[in-house]
Amino acid sequence: MAPENPSGGGSIKSVLHETRVFPPPADFAKDAGIKSLDEYQALWDRAKDDPEAFWAEQAASLDWFQTWDRVLDWNPPFAQWFVGGKLNASYNCVDRHCKGPDRNKAALIFEGEPGDRRVLRYQDLLREVSKFANVLKGLGVKKGDVVALYLPMIPELVIAALACARIGAPHTVVFGGFSAEALSGRIQDCKAKVLVTADGGWRRGKVVPLKVNADGAAALCPTLKSVVVYKRTGHDVDWTPGRDHWWHELEANVSADCPAEPLDSEHPLFILYTSGSTGKPKGILHTTGGYLLQASLSTKWVFDLKPDDTYWCTADVGWVTGHSYLTYGPLAQGATCVMYEGAPNWPDEARFWKIIEDYRVSILYTAPTAIRAFMKWGEQHPKKHDLSSLRLLGSVGEPINPEAWMWYHEVIGGGRCPIVDTWWQTETGAIMISPLPGATPTIPGSATRPLPGIIPAIVTKDGVPVGENEGGFLVITRPWPSMLRTIFGDDERYKAQYWSDVPGNYFTGDGARRDEHGNYWILGRVDDVLNVAGHRLSTMEIESALVSHAAVAEAAVVGKPDEIKGQGISCFVTLESHHAPSEKLRQELRAHVAKEIGALARPDEIHFTESLPKTRSGKIMRRLLRDVAAGVESTGDTSTLEDVGVLALLRRGGQQEE
Ligand code: WT7
Repeated sequence: MAPENPSGGGSIKSVLHETRVFPPPADFAKDAGIKSLDEYQALWDRAKDDPEAFWAEQAASLDWFQTWDRVLDWNPPFAQWFVGGKLNASYNCVDRHCKGPDRNKAALIFEGEPGDRRVLRYQDLLREVSKFANVLKGLGVKKGDVVALYLPMIPELVIAALACARIGAPHTVVFGGFSAEALSGRIQDCKAKVLVTADGGWRRGKVVPLKVNADGAAALCPTLKSVVVYKRTGHDVDWTPGRDHWWHELEANVSADCPAEPLDSEHPLFILYTSGSTGKPKGILHTTGGYLLQASLSTKWVFDLKPDDTYWCTADVGWVTGHSYLTYGPLAQGATCVMYEGAPNWPDEARFWKIIEDYRVSILYTAPTAIRAFMKWGEQHPKKHDLSSLRLLGSVGEPINPEAWMWYHEVIGGGRCPIVDTWWQTETGAIMISPLPGATPTIPGSATRPLPGIIPAIVTKDGVPVGENEGGFLVITRPWPSMLRTIFGDDERYKAQYWSDVPGNYFTGDGARRDEHGNYWILGRVDDVLNVAGHRLSTMEIESALVSHAAVAEAAVVGKPDEIKGQGISCFVTLESHHAPSEKLRQELRAHVAKEIGALARPDEIHFTESLPKTRSGKIMRRLLRDVAAGVESTGDTSTLEDVGVLALLRRGGQQEE
């Protein structure tokens, strides 16, 4: 929900004044699907003038078992797309490519962190997906039952997701870096009956103990009946007979024939949890037809996909990027996708560049936080490898700073590859604002223009459009096929969170400005959501993790600028009496948060303080803490502060430690 003062005090100010413009290279534009800005504009105008006709035309690119009766039912803020239509996402991603020569095309090229390699052709994927769909049926999974997936980045994650889609069981993928507590919270919220996991996965040469976490979560989840375990690392694991089953044992006796179930267009495809500004993580619900259409179409447009591309999206399937751009989008397009299990700096900092050289990757889609780490590690690593197969680069997750953009362009792209800076969210399901590489001139730091069918606006908190180059709240003014349908089990929260701030519009939670050429510049979150290394974390969630520790009385968490991660996590903590600040306690609290949420939420710094700066009505003034964390003077209004002395104390370093 929109706070009173989006940037903590004044209006949202834009700090970027970038003037470098990179038109699409002529030879790229020549062969591109959309070749000019005029062509893009014509498509965008057509979509704006007659959205239903436009989306109906596009939807013909999917295979439907039955055509829809109505393109859109819109009872704000609840949308239904392609009503009456029947299709299956798994069928569209797999079966339809097996009807012709593409059956022998590589669907997934997998490389494990230890160096093991596997290639699954489309017909291999069809066999594996069908078998695992039969395994799920054998465990009693029925259409509509939720299945939780907690797996490393191995083909079985994609196989399991598509197997769920095949039988109409919505999946919820939980990132392997989340803790047992976080996993159990998600399983309980969506009442999953089956959990699919692995003994472990490989990360920086070590085993990530997924089964240990799965056991911890299962103990807290009464709805969970079965745990399927894929053997990846081969180390010893605890076993609960009756509940636990080895993937390979269940699969040994099932048929490889499992026809894809015709499902309503609005049948739930998946639930993906993401952090909001308040409360526990929200289960973002996506349904079949609209989601698949936009994931597929945007993959084609934004990545200008060609039949012989080797496409690599480095995101984990635990995040929405891995859902839309490693699984559903590229597979619906029949693309060849690279999938890598481990860390970018294992065994050394050149791993990504070696993968690109080895597989002749032509399209690379990664995140600014990774690019900044590569910059820090140095260009000697990419320079060791032949990156000449690359023709297009993508960025997602947070605003990309112009320095990182230029480095990506020059060092990785050799100055010849367009960069698509793609803005979207878990909730939007698919890319919303992005250059089209053959059509749109790119500018370092700008996501440029909305895709056809997407009508954004930038408004004040009263919903009044702002002027050119003025900052405001980014909203989407019309429903779109891949929009979230609701927050799972909580329609009221869905309404309040997304549709109440600017009535009639979808509120993104981001600030933005639009320049005189119509380019959008995303300015970052305007709510209490942090973006740490491209991952969304709620300050409230980290605060409640902190106060769940016996020593902590009160906590306030803010973001702090971080060279690599974009934002780091800075915590201000007051202690219960009988507890004194110490380095030992600081480490204990950091570990406690990592245990409650996951290592990605481990605080970067913890400041002990005797009190927190609050308004007279008791609200913590986070913007003042943000300034303290960043080490800058507070310029905004401090007149509502209850006790001005608190701020001076914090600036001197808070409480003395033992
Ligand atoms: C938030 C959504 C969408 C997949 C990854 C993150 C930020 C995302 C960009 C970009 C500026 C971006 C926004 C957004 N964000 N992409 N290209 N430029 N900001 O998905 O976890 O749902 O986070 O990430 O703040 O609201 P998510």
